[in-house]
Amino acid sequence: LRPEELFEDQKQMRKLFIIGLGAGNPEYITVQAINALNQVDVFFVLDKGPAKADLLRFRSEICARYITDSAYRIVEIEDPVRDPAIASYTERVEVWHRARARLYRDRLASELGEDDCGAFLVWGDPALYDSSLRILEQIAARGDLAFSYEVIPGISSVQALAARHRISWNHIGGSVKITTGRKLAEQPEQTIENTLVMLDGECAFKHVPAQDLEIYWGAYLGSDAEILRAGKLSELREELEQLRAAAKAEHGWIMDTYLLRKPVAREP
Ligand SMILES: C[S@@+](CC[C@H](N)C(=O)[O-])C[C@H]1O[C@@H](n2cnc3c(N)ncnc32)[C@H](O)[C@@H]1O
Repeated sequence: LRPEELFEDQKQMRKLFIIGLGAGNPEYITVQAINALNQVDVFFVLDKGPAKADLLRFRSEICARYITDSAYRIVEIEDPVRDPAIASYTERVEVWHRARARLYRDRLASELGEDDCGAFLVWGDPALYDSSLRILEQIAARGDLAFSYEVIPGISSVQALAARHRISWNHIGGSVKITTGRKLAEQPEQTIENTLVMLDGECAFKHVPAQDLEIYWGAYLGSDAEILRAGKLSELREELEQLRAAAKAEHGWIMDTYLLRKPVAREP
């Protein structure tokens, strides 16, 4: 069933957009996203961590800059705490997502009228390491709140990384793997010809067998604070670790991502 078919007997239904805003530059926004923004009555935001104030400011700037057609409200949803007593990482996240789904369901019901339009504003693109879609699927599965939803894609951080370094992710006809710092740290030898790494708070690149790997690294991509470095991993490792720590200390938070690239095997 498509989402719009789930509640087809209901004439009026809450509509939700999940809008990818792009990862860090207000000009990454698409025309489709701007058109969606202009239909929204209520924006729901769920931000946390040290970057919270900056992320909120970014979203408010986007709304102020691009919304010309509607009066809108911004509703912040507080984040439930993850239960440290649950040992399994996957189970801990699932329990936490269920709590978020309950919370969102209640806030959607109380803040959105039957024929109102709401939106979640997602950093980058909703398809990459973002839980908004999973949460909405869980709310829909409960079956006690009628709504339809539509996803508007955005420019993700890994696209911004490639653009800023003027590289493509893949060699000709080659593969790309997208992974997290946590996974890379568990299996540092498991890089493929092109490996994109996100969510790396611990500099997992330190543990990767350098051989002749190259790294294309970027932090605060798209913003005025952007930092870019590229070169041989063996030569850049220490500099990157120091640079990252200094930038994090200066801003209070950091978002960085990188591509690890093996050299192309030359045909004889
Ligand atoms: C929770 S994920 C969200 C990813 C996002 N949905 C996207 O499409 O890029 C956050 C991670 O994305 C990466 N990231 C997001 N924005 C970034 C930026 N402006 N510069 C560098 N890395 C960024 C970092 O690896 C960060 O840890």
